[in-house]
Amino acid sequence: MSIFKKLFGKKSSIGSAVEKKEEVKIEATVDSETKIEEDKEIKHKAMSEKIKFTIDGKECLADKGQNVLDAALDNGVYIPFLCHVRGVKQAGSCRVCNVKVAGRTMTACTTPVAPGMEVENETAELTDLRKAIIEALFVEGNHFCPACEKSGNCELQALAYKFEMMVPRFPYEFPQKAIDADNDKIMIERNRCILCKRCVRSFQDDQGRSYFAFNKRGHELEIKIDQEVAANLTDEKAQEIMDTCPVGALLKKEKGFDEPIGTRKFDKTPIGCDNI
Ligand code: FES
Repeated sequence: MSIFKKLFGKKSSIGSAVEKKEEVKIEATVDSETKIEEDKEIKHKAMSEKIKFTIDGKECLADKGQNVLDAALDNGVYIPFLCHVRGVKQAGSCRVCNVKVAGRTMTACTTPVAPGMEVENETAELTDLRKAIIEALFVEGNHFCPACEKSGNCELQALAYKFEMMVPRFPYEFPQKAIDADNDKIMIERNRCILCKRCVRSFQDDQGRSYFAFNKRGHELEIKIDQEVAANLTDEKAQEIMDTCPVGALLKKEKGFDEPIGTRKFDKTPIGCDNI
């Protein structure tokens, strides 16, 4: 019997209102307990559906269909990369993310995790391979870091520091590359472009048309902006494009050298899991 029945003998209107409130309270408690149980079940199911694999012996978990690179980052393991953008279709073009699986070298960004997979990441061989790729990218273009607007925020430069690159093992090519400053918002500095295709894959207008495309072939391959599609680029989008470019090839106009030395992305924290 409720306390109100005991006190008033029969149901008063106040008594029944409070009784109702109590019932609602009990229902809410039951609801939240059910929700907690359901959440636990969902979490348990998700965990049991995770794929177990290892990177350099460290046990890791991945979602079904996840690539090795994203899964590594989710598990706090840094695999160096340049062309990958999370959530965007992989290109596998830079090869910096090379890892070894079952003795074979493969790109972590395009390789899905398989149950029990044993990934080698930090070995002397892979470090040298990645360093050689970084050196090749430097000699193929014209990268003069001290004069570059992206210095301190450039992923190529940050990787060169990470791999302690001094003098590249390959001869410099000093290619002739044209700069395209026709667009109102974005300038293309092709001397620094590493042809990673991040811009082509990441930016489309409302109708699905890409702002950028590859133009020409072979040694002449270059990034081109579609002036018609990019005619209405907003300042925000231009900034996003500049930030997505891993080097200083796509620059938002009037934005260069905006951040003072000491406050740029890689000034305090070197490239890695904490700063990618
Ligand atoms: Fe994997 Fe470029 S990040 S190939």
